[in-house]
Amino acid sequence: MKDFKDKVAVITGGASGIGRGIANRAVKEGMKVVLADIEAEALSQAEKELKSCGATVLPVLTDVSKAEDVEKLAQKTIDTFGEVHLLCNNAGTAPYGITWECSLSDWKWIMDVNLWGVIHGTRTFIPIMLKQDNECHIVNTASLSGLMANEIGQGMYIVTKYGVVGLTEIIAKELSLLKSKIKVHALCPGMVKTRIVDCERNRPSELCNDITEQIDHPELKPIWEAILGLGEAGELPDKVGDIVFEAIKKDIFYILTDTKLYYRRMIQARNEEIMESYKQNKQIHKSLEKRS
Ligand code: NAI
Repeated sequence: MKDFKDKVAVITGGASGIGRGIANRAVKEGMKVVLADIEAEALSQAEKELKSCGATVLPVLTDVSKAEDVEKLAQKTIDTFGEVHLLCNNAGTAPYGITWECSLSDWKWIMDVNLWGVIHGTRTFIPIMLKQDNECHIVNTASLSGLMANEIGQGMYIVTKYGVVGLTEIIAKELSLLKSKIKVHALCPGMVKTRIVDCERNRPSELCNDITEQIDHPELKPIWEAILGLGEAGELPDKVGDIVFEAIKKDIFYILTDTKLYYRRMIQARNEEIMESYKQNKQIHKSLEKRS
């Protein structure tokens, strides 16, 4: 899509951070924006600010972890604007900890929001877009952590983001097979300066942890601090919003907001390790064939 004027964007997690950055750019492109978020106050603040720039905004209080909320979001969008042309499955959270020590509540919360949220968006909106049969885009917010497993303490997050990347890759192939006009994109940001480090604000009360059961790991403290510091030094959400729109216009599948050589090398190293294992396994297969 090259011309976004008067088209309709639905952005989950649109009240803060990356979602808000995408919303700001959508408004500049002349789009009508549906902001979906679980935080009522931040949502109404974002609505006010965007409306003061002359934007057409529909705020919808939504918990993306609930299929029925996402279905209502779609219904409200269609009832209000008739169509949807851009869906950003972006809402996310990031509780952390040593992977096997994380509680079932941690796992449930992050899987429900980061992975099920995108699954609900996919199941609800793709049939609507297919029926419209016009040019549409879906941007699923994954992360660089969906392309490589490097951040210690981010195991649960990495699991969800690998899931989002895999989901987006297969949807792209299925849509292409069906000759659909819908294009999908995997947004894989590096560090962005947002409120993600304060994600506990959105943890549902029924998924709170028993703090007496938590294990302290002083050796991990410097790693957490480095991650938090990286967030502070990260990219600005508005720049991410700009990159997303430029990438949509060019039909780029993996949208990378941080192209530092350092990240390129890490992605390359992972791919090379897979290829090296491939060669080693090939040798095992050959030697087994010879023996039989
Ligand atoms: P943020 O905390 O500023 O924004 C996240 C938004 O999602 C908030 O408005 C929050 O209220 C909303 N949200 C949380 N749970 C929700 C739920 N159940 N239903 C609906 N809305 C919900 O954080 P940020 O960084 O903007 O996060 C957006 C996405 O970007 C997430 O998927 C995150 O994993 C991803 N990401 C962030 C990076 C960063 O460095 N900030 C890097 C890579 C990916």
